[in-house]
Amino acid sequence: MKPKVILTQYYQDEPIAQLRRDFELVIVEGSGKSIAQVVKENPDAQALIPFLSEKIGKDIIDLGKNLKIIANYAVGYNNIDVAYAKERHIWVTNTPDILTPATADIAMALILSVSRRIIESDQFLREGKFNGWGANLMVGKALNGATLGIIGMGRIGLATALRAIGFEMNIVYYSRTRRQDLEQQYHFTYMPFLDLVSASDIVSLHIPSSPQVKHLFNKEVFDLMKKDAIFINVARGDLMDEAYLAEKLEKNELFGAGLDVYELEPKVHEKLLQLKNVVLLPHIGSATDKSRLGMAQMTIDNVKQALAGQTPQNIVAEFKM
Ligand code: DGY
Repeated sequence: MKPKVILTQYYQDEPIAQLRRDFELVIVEGSGKSIAQVVKENPDAQALIPFLSEKIGKDIIDLGKNLKIIANYAVGYNNIDVAYAKERHIWVTNTPDILTPATADIAMALILSVSRRIIESDQFLREGKFNGWGANLMVGKALNGATLGIIGMGRIGLATALRAIGFEMNIVYYSRTRRQDLEQQYHFTYMPFLDLVSASDIVSLHIPSSPQVKHLFNKEVFDLMKKDAIFINVARGDLMDEAYLAEKLEKNELFGAGLDVYELEPKVHEKLLQLKNVVLLPHIGSATDKSRLGMAQMTIDNVKQALAGQTPQNIVAEFKM
């Protein structure tokens, strides 16, 4: 008998065919049932593959009587109660590396879109307002010579910084672990967190979400940013006080912001939707054909390894401690 695997939503056809070949596959999407119901009805399932938008808490983990692995289809895994899974000896894995270039591209795309007012300009033209070249038409912020403050010099932070070098930006960073190797190789400058916030022309967030850093960007921190600075978040929405950011943007106390993530996803703060100085994306950081296929493959590889009694290749940090 093939081992049973629960996939919460459809991903690409090829990896789904692969899952069907090797496992008895149960897909939650389209069943009209919740994840909890499906897990409850399939207590023999040995693996669960969830999406980042789905909360996998103690309740669901307890229903998975025979679960050996929760293979998250994302690099971030704040949707999973990892401590409890670990207590229950259930592996938790994620999909690092494969989505790094795509996510860094989106950070860079947001930096460009906000600084050069790309979306606003496109809308302006479509509304028939382009009546000729003008010295003051859609003037944005120069990137060359600007200081980009990277918060979190992990894989995606670094990939974003390397892209920004191509735009002649100066890179400053704050990270839990100081990277003197990168400082030497790329002339990055390390700064304490609050110093970085007040010194940067663009602040870009690249740290994982956790209860300790909820609203890392609160009123006090946002208020340290330069009045003409740009705030970029492609990490997680709960790292920022979204309502306060909206208030600041409305009062033009920042040049702009570019967001791919939101505090109460998929809800977006009502005020942000009315503003021209913010570019809003629907959490598409990893959304390229290449990275989404690679992410799916990683979930399958991790499941196969766990069910074969091996340590899966992408266990999350908490399992390495
Ligand atoms: C992830 O995988 O955690 C990213 O947020 C996807 O964009």
